[in-house]
Amino acid sequence: MFFVLFICCLSLKFVSATTNITATKFLKDPGTLLSSNSIFKIGFFSPTNSTNRYVGIWYNIEKSVTMEIVWVANRNNPIKDSSGVLKISEDGNLQLSNGQNIIIWSSNVSHLANSSSVAQLKDTGNLVLISSVSGMITWQSFEHLTNSLLPHTRISIDKDSMKENSIQLRSWKSASDPSNGRFTSGIIPQTLPEIGTWNGDKLYWRSGPWNGNLFLGMPNLSAEASFGFRIIKNDLEDTLEVLFSVSDESLLIYFVLNSDGNVVLKNWDNDIQKWKIWGQSFTSECAFYGKCGPYGSCDPKGLPVCSCLKGFEPNRFNEWSHGNWTSGCVRRTPLQCGKNTGGKVDRFLMLKGIKVPDYAEFVLANDQDDCRRKCLDICSCLAYAYPKGIGCMIWNKSLIDLQQLSHDGSEFSHLFIRLAHSELGHHFNQFSPFLMVLCG
Ligand SMILES: *[C@@H]1O[C@H](CO)[C@@H](O)[C@H](O)[C@H]1NC(C)=O
Ligand SMILES: *[C@@H]1O[C@H](CO)[C@@H](O)[C@H](O)[C@H]1NC(C)=O
Ligand SMILES: *[C@@H]1O[C@H](CO)[C@@H](O)[C@H](O)[C@H]1NC(C)=O
Ligand SMILES: *[C@@H]1O[C@H](CO)[C@@H](O)[C@H](O)[C@H]1NC(C)=O
Ligand SMILES: *[C@@H]1O[C@H](CO)[C@@H](O)[C@H](O)[C@H]1NC(C)=O
Ligand SMILES: *[C@@H]1O[C@H](CO)[C@@H](O)[C@H](O)[C@H]1NC(C)=O
Ligand SMILES: *[C@@H]1O[C@H](CO)[C@@H](O)[C@H](O)[C@H]1NC(C)=O
Repeated sequence: MFFVLFICCLSLKFVSATTNITATKFLKDPGTLLSSNSIFKIGFFSPTNSTNRYVGIWYNIEKSVTMEIVWVANRNNPIKDSSGVLKISEDGNLQLSNGQNIIIWSSNVSHLANSSSVAQLKDTGNLVLISSVSGMITWQSFEHLTNSLLPHTRISIDKDSMKENSIQLRSWKSASDPSNGRFTSGIIPQTLPEIGTWNGDKLYWRSGPWNGNLFLGMPNLSAEASFGFRIIKNDLEDTLEVLFSVSDESLLIYFVLNSDGNVVLKNWDNDIQKWKIWGQSFTSECAFYGKCGPYGSCDPKGLPVCSCLKGFEPNRFNEWSHGNWTSGCVRRTPLQCGKNTGGKVDRFLMLKGIKVPDYAEFVLANDQDDCRRKCLDICSCLAYAYPKGIGCMIWNKSLIDLQQLSHDGSEFSHLFIRLAHSELGHHFNQFSPFLMVLCG
C-alpha cells in the first residue's frame, strides 16, 4: 500500500493528460500531454529509423498508423537518450533539458518577469506560454513554425527586413531527421503577393499571384471553400500575412513541406481512417520553377512537356532537342514598337488557362482594353493579363514559369503575349478588333 502510494505521488509530479506545464509540473520523457479536447498531443518522440528524442506536437488520432508531427521544439538539437525534461525554467521560459541539466531548447523570451508562466497546448495545436501574472501569451509555437502549416497559422513577411524576419516553413532534412533541411516555403517579396518554395536561395516553386480569393496557380484552394488562404495586410506593423483558414473546425488538415521540397496538403479521412493527400505543389514536373526556361511553356500533358511560346524558338537547339530546356526560347521576329519602320503594329496572342509568368507588375487600368493599351505604350512590355480580382498585370522583364493549367481554361486567367504583327499568321480570329491600337 505504501509502495503504491509512493508511485502515485511520484507520477503526480509529471504531467499526464489535460493539464498544464508549470514550474512544478514537468513533462518527462516518455510523457505526453493532450490539448483539452484531445485533438493534439505534445510529447517526446523518435522519428522513423532514429533513436534521437525530440519534443513534438502531433495530431492525436488513435486509429492513425502514422504519427503526423506538426511541430518540433529541438529540431536541431536532439536528445540522445530518454532523460529529457520539458519544464518552466526559473526565468519563466519553457525549457527542455537533458539528464545533465544542459539546456537543449528554450522558448528564449527575454525579459520574462519571473517563473510564474504556464505552458498549455491548445486544441488548435498551438503551444502557448502564458504569464500567470498578466495572463498574456508571451510565446507561441504558431509564431515559430517548423515544417507544417496548421489551420489558423500564418506565414508572414516583414516588408522592411524582408525574408529575415518572416515566418516561414522549413523542411526536415529527411523523414528521419527533423533538423533544418534545404527547403523553405514562405511569401515571395514582390508587389503581387505569392507564396513559394525555395531550395536554398533558389526559387523552386511558386503559387502564382493572389487574386483576392486564391492563388492563380492553385485554383483549387479558394478561401470560399471550406478551407483556403486569406491574405492579411498589417499596415501597422508593415507585414503581409498568408493565413491558412478553415470554416469547418472539425477538419483535421494541414500543409507540410516535405524534405524533397513538395508542399503536401493532408487531411484525415474518417471514412477510410487514413491520412489522405488532398493536394500538393508538385503535381507534375511542370511545377519546377522555370522548367522550360524564358519564353517556354510547360504542359504536363505535352510530349515533350516543354514548348516555345508561339513566335519564339529554342535558344539553343541542341540542348533543347536533348531535353535540356533551361536556356528557354528567343523571339523570332523583333517587335515593331519604338521602331519607325513603317511596319504593322504589334499584336497580342491569347493563351488560355495559363499559370501566368513570374515578375508581374501591377498597373492601374480601367479595363482590359486600357490594360492592353498601356502594355502597347511601353515598348518593354512583353505581355499583359487582366484576371478577375487583380486587374492589369504587365510583364516587361521576361516571361518565365508559364504552365498550362487546363485546356479549356475557362476558370483560369488568360495571358496575352505581344508578338510582331507578322507572327500572328492565320490566328486572326483570336484577337479582338480593339487590338489595332498604334504604338507610341
Ligand atoms: C492551464 O493554464 C491556463 C492559463 O493559465 C488556465 O486558464 C487553466 O485553468 C489551466 N488548466 C489547468 C488544468 O490547470
Ligand atoms: C527506415 O529504414 C528502412 C530500412 O533501411 C527503409 O526501408 C525505410 O525507407 C526507412 N524509413 C525512413 C522514413 O527513412
Ligand atoms: C536565444 O536568444 C539569444 C539572443 O536573442 C540568441 O543568441 C540565442 O541563440 C537564442 N537561443 C536559442 C536556443 O534560440
Ligand atoms: C512574479 O511577479 C509578480 C508580479 O511582479 C509577483 O506578484 C509574483 O509574486 C512573482 N512570483 C515569483 C515566483 O517571484
Ligand atoms: C482541382 O481543380 C481541377 C480543375 O477545376 C479539377 O479537375 C480537380 O479535380 C480539382 N482537384 C481537387 C482535388 O479538387
Ligand atoms: C543544361 O543547359 C545549361 C545551360 O547551357 C547547362 O548549364 C546545364 O548544365 C545543362 N544541364 C544538363 C543536365 O545538361
Ligand atoms: C516595367 O514596368 C514598370 C511599371 O510600369 C516600370 O516601373 C519599370 O521601369 C519597367 N521596367 C522596364 C525594364 O521597363
